[in-house]
Amino acid sequence: MNTKFLSLCLFSLTVVLAAQEIRAAAPPNEVSLIPQPVKVERRTGTFKLSGNTRLISSKSNKEIAELFAAMFKAPTGFLLQHALSGPAGIQLLISKTPNVVLGNEGYTLDVTPGKITILANKPAGLFYGMQTLMQLLPKEIESPHVVKNKSWSVPCVKITDYPRFGWRGLMLDVSRHFFPKELVKKYINQLAKYKMNVFHWHLTDDQGWRIEIKSLPKLTGIGAWRAPRVGLWWTRPPQGANEAATDGGFYTQEDIKEIVKYARSRFVTILPEIDVPGHSLAAIAAYPELSCTGKAYKVNVGNLFYTIDDNALCPGNDQTYDFMKKVIDEVAALFPGEFIHIGGDECYKGFWKDCAKCQKRMKDEKLQTVEELQSYFIRRMETLVKSKGKKLMGWDEILEGGLAPEATVMSWRGMDGGVTAAKMGHKVVMTPSANCYLDLYQGDPAVEPPTYSMLTLSSCYGFDPVPNGISDPSLILGGQGNLWTESVPNYRQVEYMTWPRSFALAEVFWSPKSTRNWDSFIFRMEQQFARYDMAQVNYARSAYDPIIKAVRDTVHKAVRIALDTEIKKLDVYYTFDNTYPDNFSAKYKDTLSVPIGADHLRVLTYRNNKPIGKMITIPVKDLEKRAGM
Ligand code: ACM
Ligand code: ZN
Repeated sequence: MNTKFLSLCLFSLTVVLAAQEIRAAAPPNEVSLIPQPVKVERRTGTFKLSGNTRLISSKSNKEIAELFAAMFKAPTGFLLQHALSGPAGIQLLISKTPNVVLGNEGYTLDVTPGKITILANKPAGLFYGMQTLMQLLPKEIESPHVVKNKSWSVPCVKITDYPRFGWRGLMLDVSRHFFPKELVKKYINQLAKYKMNVFHWHLTDDQGWRIEIKSLPKLTGIGAWRAPRVGLWWTRPPQGANEAATDGGFYTQEDIKEIVKYARSRFVTILPEIDVPGHSLAAIAAYPELSCTGKAYKVNVGNLFYTIDDNALCPGNDQTYDFMKKVIDEVAALFPGEFIHIGGDECYKGFWKDCAKCQKRMKDEKLQTVEELQSYFIRRMETLVKSKGKKLMGWDEILEGGLAPEATVMSWRGMDGGVTAAKMGHKVVMTPSANCYLDLYQGDPAVEPPTYSMLTLSSCYGFDPVPNGISDPSLILGGQGNLWTESVPNYRQVEYMTWPRSFALAEVFWSPKSTRNWDSFIFRMEQQFARYDMAQVNYARSAYDPIIKAVRDTVHKAVRIALDTEIKKLDVYYTFDNTYPDNFSAKYKDTLSVPIGADHLRVLTYRNNKPIGKMITIPVKDLEKRAGM
């Protein structure tokens, strides 16, 4: 939020000043938007939204107008009427002569005291212009209830905006934990607010098959259910011999049609993923004949099974291809998007080596390695997917053993797979785990959910989907954040892991690289936090937490501790005496030694003498372990 705007809006001024004690200071002359638009020109004055404001558009864009009318209604109580023409109001206009710079998703947004005009080449641009307008309104616009006596004013601006990348995705794994239809919609609605346009739906995996396939009813009759468990993933007791599988769920085809329609009205394309030939234990639990061993396995509950239970489809068996044909037939009919994601990742191929059918297939097809056998399987999937008028996408393992002729690669084990694929002329979506894996913890592991490793907000913000050495950057379609849900058992946690790291990714995928600015981003993120508080959407405040590094002092054979913060201008207070670190405790200045006898370090960050992070308490023994002692 910008100081000029504040002077124009007394109420906001009061609110912001009250909050300023614990928020970052506003950069001058900046409206607060995520992702940062290409160009923002501030003008004087405000537009005031009222019950009389008309939403003006042609008939063909009435649906967009009405979608936002519904969003305005809950907080304002106004049901804005649609009109086909009129001198004043919020006008959604398709330009008569296409503006080349704006492309298919760009827009201009012109706010004057008397009128708001959004101009775009295509309806998607109108939608994004409206999303920008939502963010220009006071934070109370996110309230689920009517906010009385509120002035719904918008600062006058002229914004020109368009995306850097056409693929701006978020993936949700609904196999490891199932999230019902209404929550999937909520997730799609939330990502669309930040101008993301792909929802990658990871529908199948070892822990649950979530999509109804009418010709294969056991996939959801059996494959969608497992024994109920909580606790640390991979350490859970497996399903007992007489235990019922009562935990899970799936989406009916009617549910899926409803979600596809919901996404489409928000200009979000759904990328369905059927993860094969590995990650298929749920399918194999339903149809044991699909694996090389033919053994009866249970849907995995989060217990270790890899290389023990056979979770891969048998690529030697013709039945596997009959099965996949039935699945792809129904998936292709449900999802209107260009791509079907076929997985291909982390397939354990050990059972293929001992399988007579697989060995015969390798001999018949002159395949030298099991990687080539997987590649054979993926090529057949490509033929199948193409026969439905779709394109195949797969994780970067599909490069091993030879890439299918027209496959698009989703690069996750770093960027190298993507670079290799692009050099071969294939399209790529970049989603390297070091920048895009939202399942990884985002702050000190002492206070975050136990997952594989760390991904900080700044690592997301520092991501560039186009690495050096790509001669044709247009092959990089864009990027995507991926939320695997092994350690995400409920929807509040989905939100916690997604936001604010996906604010950072949304900006990476949409905004020009030249506009990236960490301090500005943090300021704007904090404005979004206030909106999330209004909307009751959860988010992580981990970027406020202290960064605690323990290193071994080889001379003194003792641990030394360095403290830092990801967000600048925070004060770090600490104690070693088991007391709460307030802003009169020791303030961190330089590397610390542990006092003799201390058993715990406590650290807390402050801004303007108010606590802002979570207090982190770590046993000295754990610090010594971190230092490798
Ligand atoms: C993956 O993370 N296994 C794609
Ligand atoms: Zn086999």
